[in-house]
Amino acid sequence: MSLVSLLKGKGPSGFGYGSTAEDVTQGIDLSGKTFLLTGCNSGLGLETLRVLSLRGAHVIAAARSVEKAENAIKQISANATPVACELSEPASVRACVQRVKSLGHPLDGIICNAGIMALPTLEQKYGHELQFFTNHIGHFILVTGLLDQLTDDARVVMVSSEAHRGAYKEGIQFDNLSGEKGYTPWGAYGQSKLANILFARRLAKNFEGTGKTAYSLHPGVIQTNLSRHMNPIVRNILFPVASVIAFKSIPQGAATSCYLATRPGVEAYSGQYFSDSNPKQPTKHGLDDVMADQLWVVSESIASNV
Ligand SMILES: NC(=O)c1ccc[n+]([C@@H]2O[C@H](COP(=O)([O-])OP(=O)(O)OC[C@H]3O[C@@H](n4cnc5c(N)ncnc54)[C@H](OP(=O)(O)O)[C@@H]3O)[C@@H](O)[C@H]2O)c1
Repeated sequence: MSLVSLLKGKGPSGFGYGSTAEDVTQGIDLSGKTFLLTGCNSGLGLETLRVLSLRGAHVIAAARSVEKAENAIKQISANATPVACELSEPASVRACVQRVKSLGHPLDGIICNAGIMALPTLEQKYGHELQFFTNHIGHFILVTGLLDQLTDDARVVMVSSEAHRGAYKEGIQFDNLSGEKGYTPWGAYGQSKLANILFARRLAKNFEGTGKTAYSLHPGVIQTNLSRHMNPIVRNILFPVASVIAFKSIPQGAATSCYLATRPGVEAYSGQYFSDSNPKQPTKHGLDDVMADQLWVVSESIASNV
């Protein structure tokens, strides 16, 4: 536990920076519930898998390959079914949708946790910048393919980031989703994480009048494999020091996802962005319903062409 997490207090929810995934799910019985989780094999996803399973849930645990998901499940003896979901390959995402449907469990929640960050140079899939395509379009195809599988009070949880504040100044660059008119590692990562916020916001609007809800969140800053593309000096020297002083631990980093997926009483906050298990104001673009609507239409169009 870092020095900062010892000093920071709790918010109105009763939880805060220092709360862990076990803390926020204490006393919650998830037996009989099923959650789909992406990126189950590493970092925050592995801890989310462990704690949901600890509380009695059945987790449909997605990783890039079934083997990776199986290894993760074995590693922590989770109550889970492994599935493959390579988010940058629409055929894999669609196969995952079919596989999840064939398992026949209604979904009490989908936690869109998988992600990549700050690729040093422009990479593309099917003509689209890879972070936007993986972090947003992959999850868009997954979630929209499974809407019929959701229970009446299901929750969709999008793991975004405070890095959405570093998105390009226009927010989503609809005229540059290929990245070819300009690319920066953090601008593109921020754009993809802004897309996570806008997707949750628009999904929440679609869910109005039903018991279903959607949220986005910043998990904190945690040393995980996410920093694999960063400078080795930052990753191997600065980050371990920062972890002791200021970063969250992995159990703390998985808390807000678990809080939003399971805690009673958050339904009134559908559509909102959270941090430290409490609502937080995103950027003005993160509140822009016109941009959220446009993103939905553009994402549908991309999804139907890949
Ligand atoms: N750590 C932080 O400080 C931080 C801060 C803000 C937001 N976040 C967000 O938190 C989430 C979890 O990140 P983490 O820190 O736990 O990182 P991590 O340890 O690198 O885990 C990321 C997970 O996403 C999976 N993934 C990456 N690309 C994928 C693809 N194309 N298809 C399917 N799965 C893919 C990875 O699989 P492989 O292992 O096979 O690559 C891994 O399971 C991400 O959405 C990230 O943006 C993290």
